[in-house]
Amino acid sequence: MKNFIQFHRPFISEEEINEVVDTLRSGWLSMGPKTIQFEQEFKEYIGTPNSVSVNSWTAGGHLILEALGLKEGDEVIVPTMTFPATAEIVCYFKAKPVIVDVDPVTLNITPEAILKAITPKTKAIIPVHYAGQPCDMDEILEIAKAKNLHVIEDAAHALPSTYKGKKIGTVSPITCFSFYATKTLAAGEGGMICTSDELLAERTKIMRLHGINRDAWKRYTEEGSWYYEVVAPGFKYNLTDIQASLALIQLRKVELMWKARADLAEVYTEQLKDNDLIELPTIKSDRTTSWHLYPIRLKLDGLKINRSEFILELKKIGIGVSVHFMPVHKHKYYQETFDLNSNDYPVSEDAFQKLISLPIYPNLGKSSVETVVDGINTLTKKYRR
Ligand SMILES: Cc1ncc(COP(=O)(O)O)c(C=O)c1O
Repeated sequence: MKNFIQFHRPFISEEEINEVVDTLRSGWLSMGPKTIQFEQEFKEYIGTPNSVSVNSWTAGGHLILEALGLKEGDEVIVPTMTFPATAEIVCYFKAKPVIVDVDPVTLNITPEAILKAITPKTKAIIPVHYAGQPCDMDEILEIAKAKNLHVIEDAAHALPSTYKGKKIGTVSPITCFSFYATKTLAAGEGGMICTSDELLAERTKIMRLHGINRDAWKRYTEEGSWYYEVVAPGFKYNLTDIQASLALIQLRKVELMWKARADLAEVYTEQLKDNDLIELPTIKSDRTTSWHLYPIRLKLDGLKINRSEFILELKKIGIGVSVHFMPVHKHKYYQETFDLNSNDYPVSEDAFQKLISLPIYPNLGKSSVETVVDGINTLTKKYRR
């Protein structure tokens, strides 16, 4: 369809294209100088003592849990409102993801749910900053300290987000970001571990490239040597210079892209606030969101159609949207393997029936946002009960 408004389009300009071409002409495609430069610039931007680039959030999460020594039978607390990767990395160790329900307003994990889920086997908590809004980190870190648990922030949505004035990536000792194609910094695929834990940084650096002891990527450079030693059976999780060249330019635009999304979010909020059949996202006053997503909830009691039908109707009029997320406890594998019961997840069960993520990206444009708003208002009027 002509003029179809896509749910997402990466914001790629000639600058990114030129930087990638520069890499292609350089003779160095995999991890190399641009990856190191990106790690350095990201570290400075976030203000973290260590940044370790990887080829996805999932790889980063896996490396973190490996470095923390997660073992078979251990438990890790994970919110159900997330992409399955958050739980999947726990399963790699034959450990158990303990899937918990979320807050009805923010859809983030709650300190109360964490407290209830802790057992003697609990080793870590993975708070997910849903849609970009940070979790209640002070309370979560306090619980972790009292119970001697690790916290790994899933910041796949939270670049850039702040919590009580601090950038996500500096709030707790371990955070991981994603640079997947739809994320706020898009490198196609990619991720970054940010940590104040020197040992964790060192271990994840070694394990991301086959467990080779020191600067494995340098072995083909002039200053490197053909000789290397493997100290552990590692993984192939490195970023490449092709992705890093994209990421470098995206990083330099990250605030500008955030501002563009924040402006669009303001238009949505302003123009949808009087629609009594729509619930808008609420951001707590002591934190800021990246606006990676703009999730609305339909008030189904007032509508003659359900959420899936609403999405189909939007598609018919040229508007692409998405749903974040189908809760983890509803996925066949998790439900069956860990014997999960929908009755234990009333908040996410309810939210999942109603959620729609609207398009929000820098090159969307205010007029497209207005088209989306018109579409929503027309449909809620047409299908009002
Ligand atoms: C909350 C969350 N965590 C983790 C991931 C996994 O990220 P990646 O695709 O970089 O592995 C995603 C990706 O969509 C996500 O949304």
